[in-house]
Amino acid sequence: MSGHAAPGAEVRVWDMFVRLFHWGAVALFAAAFLSPDEKWLHEPLGYLLLVLVMARIIWGFIGTAHARFTGFVASPAAVLRYLRLLREGRAPRHLGHNPAGGAMIVLLLAMLVLVAGSGWMTETDRWFGVPWVDHLHHISAKVLLLLVGVHVAGVVVSSALHGENLVRAMITGRKPAAAPSWQQSRSLAWPYREPRS
Ligand code: HEM
Ligand code: HEM
Repeated sequence: MSGHAAPGAEVRVWDMFVRLFHWGAVALFAAAFLSPDEKWLHEPLGYLLLVLVMARIIWGFIGTAHARFTGFVASPAAVLRYLRLLREGRAPRHLGHNPAGGAMIVLLLAMLVLVAGSGWMTETDRWFGVPWVDHLHHISAKVLLLLVGVHVAGVVVSSALHGENLVRAMITGRKPAAAPSWQQSRSLAWPYREPRS
């Protein structure tokens, strides 16, 4: 692909599975968070979310280019470099997740496993009624809510910075091909390296 796309041209970025996963996770997370006292609802929702997250993790190894972990997991140094550029207002546009966004995605997926996994543990013979497991479930659910807040703020900032609508892209799967800094889109190599300018 080159930087000479026609004005208005769009490219596919998020495949169908990633989009279904994302909005499914949003709905299930919200519903599970709001229903802790409705056991009959809360637990099936939590299990469903756990299955969805496991499928997303597998897709991270075998899925389409921008869905793969190798496509968006950057080294800590690259994340810090990106955050520095962001502070300076010079962060390049990325077609897939930017390095900071990628780190957040890994954190969100890990926390989803921890929240749903600890919820599951509370219902097993081995860990039923064990206080630290209960605490882990409660606290991790709240930490995850906080991270979601940071995630959504990142989406808003990144959208504003590059004049594009990332939420729309997560619905349609498409992004404008030719943004001002399109040429600076990251390579899919891992470990991640800053593109040369
Ligand atoms: C209404 C609130 C939310 C909005 C508007 C939103 C929006 C987005 C957008 C635009 C992206 C793509 C980011 C990019 O372009 O790099 C994304 C990715 C992601 N979001 Fe959200 N998000 C929301 C809530 C959540 C929640 C509640 C979770 C999980 C608990 C979540 C987990 C994720 C994950 C795991 C990805 C990576 C998608 C993938 O690569 O599979 N998001 N979100
Ligand atoms: C990612 C999915 C889940 C989310 C977001 C979530 C969230 C929550 C929240 C916010 C609470 C209330 C905590 C409090 O009162 O401070 C809670 C309680 C609870 N959750 Fe989950 N949960 C999830 C998955 C699960 C699963 C899979 C199970 C078990 C099968 C489960 C079992 C429970 C139980 C039994 C409680 C009540 C515990 C108590 O009050 O001692 N949860 N959950």
